[in-house]
Amino acid sequence: MPANDSLKDYQQVRLLAIRSLFEIIEQSSEGTIIVDRDARIVWMNERYARRFGLEDAVSAIGQPCESVIPGSLMREVVNNGKPILLDMLDTPKEPLVVMRLPVHDGDGALIGAIGFALFDELRSLSPLLKRYASMQQELASTRSLLRARQAKYNFAQFIGTSAASLEVKRRARRGASSDSAVLLLGETGTGKELLAHAIHAASPRAHKAFVSINSAAIPDTLLEAEFFGTAPGAYTGADRKGRPGKLQLAEGGTLFLDEIGDMPLPLQSKLLRVLQEKEYEPVGSNQMMRSDVRIIAATSTDLGAAMARGEFRADLYYRLNVLPIQVPPLRERLDDLPALTEAILEELGSQHELDDEALMLLSRHAWPGNIRELRNVLERATLLADHAHLGARDIQSALGHLTPLQVTTPQLDYKQACAAFERQLLSNTLARCNGNVPQAARQLGLGRSTLYKKLVALDICLDKET
Ligand SMILES: Nc1ncnc2c1ncn2[C@@H]1O[C@H](COP(=O)(O)OP(=O)(O)O)[C@@H](O)[C@H]1O
Ligand SMILES: [Mg+2]
Repeated sequence: MPANDSLKDYQQVRLLAIRSLFEIIEQSSEGTIIVDRDARIVWMNERYARRFGLEDAVSAIGQPCESVIPGSLMREVVNNGKPILLDMLDTPKEPLVVMRLPVHDGDGALIGAIGFALFDELRSLSPLLKRYASMQQELASTRSLLRARQAKYNFAQFIGTSAASLEVKRRARRGASSDSAVLLLGETGTGKELLAHAIHAASPRAHKAFVSINSAAIPDTLLEAEFFGTAPGAYTGADRKGRPGKLQLAEGGTLFLDEIGDMPLPLQSKLLRVLQEKEYEPVGSNQMMRSDVRIIAATSTDLGAAMARGEFRADLYYRLNVLPIQVPPLRERLDDLPALTEAILEELGSQHELDDEALMLLSRHAWPGNIRELRNVLERATLLADHAHLGARDIQSALGHLTPLQVTTPQLDYKQACAAFERQLLSNTLARCNGNVPQAARQLGLGRSTLYKKLVALDICLDKET
């Protein structure tokens, strides 16, 4: 009968197809592996063994498949008897397209599984692979960005058990549990940024981004774009595609406004609007963006005085000043010195120990740069000392390096000497202010833009804090 004939033909075709399918796959595969009922390798081809860093395939035999092929799902196949017809397997080189099939004996009992890694010959899959690879890459870079944006510090890293430090931590912890604005006040180097990270890390927004923007480190002309981002086509040149602003990057998380006292007035007004209305427009765009960020602001300047001078908006101040935290300078919490020095030395990976005289000397220093300065002094002392024990002499010479303002270069003429002096004065002041130009300008009694010009003219580089 014709129908029966074609059925017979079909069985015939099926058998032929099975055979040729197997042959094609086997020949074109990047690797083949066979495992037993316990997912131990029974056989593997040489090429596949080398891909996973083995010298030869023989050394793979008897091993659990995962120990040779990390991420292998062959065990799943022998456990549930179901094939995995198409899958991606990440390997140290490219990802592979893999196919895993259960193997049954003549009576239909499951005895193991066979896996094929198909790659080069399956050209039709290559657009898919490319897409997969680019998605993997995107994922990796997003993950690392997110890691970079996550808080670096927690409360345990804020060392100090003096009454003043405990009070700071108590208030900061309270700030972490609320969603209102926090204002960190204190001299440079007292740990405001560390606290900002810690507050974020202990807040319900901890799994979202922590983004900082430092008004003192970015020229006024660029701040607005940094803040709000730019719409495509807002500028010609490199930024034509548009760029997300810090507000957008911080969406859902925390935005840390460092050195808020140096924020120019026009930007203060715009920031106030964002805080009130919870929306904003990127530069050059007329599309409103929603904004949900928690604000932590910090400043080392006297905002009261800045308001009196008309340089800081009172209404913004009241918005930010919901939970003010005054971080005391190091000289007012000298009780913390022993614990701080110990923690810093440990963090520097140093084996050095301070003796009592050295500690005494440290406690007599004024510490205008606070804990940042302490860190620098200790680091310098450990580098200069050729023994594991740090005494008063070592500390004295490390401290001494902070004020080397001498021009003893006789071969210079008057003009050159003045320039050398100016360069040293500006560099030292800038270093003392941690690269904060407005602050350095104030200390020097210079206008901000005058100082910028001088720095450019003298080719003094502005290495910003991170
Ligand atoms: N209480 C503290 N315990 C340990 N390290 C601290 C403490 N306060 C500040 N530091 C360290 O001192 C340096 C300056 O701190 P930072 O938070 O940047 O200060 P600020 O923002 O007030 O200028 C950082 O390296 C920080 O880790
Ligand atoms: Mg700072």
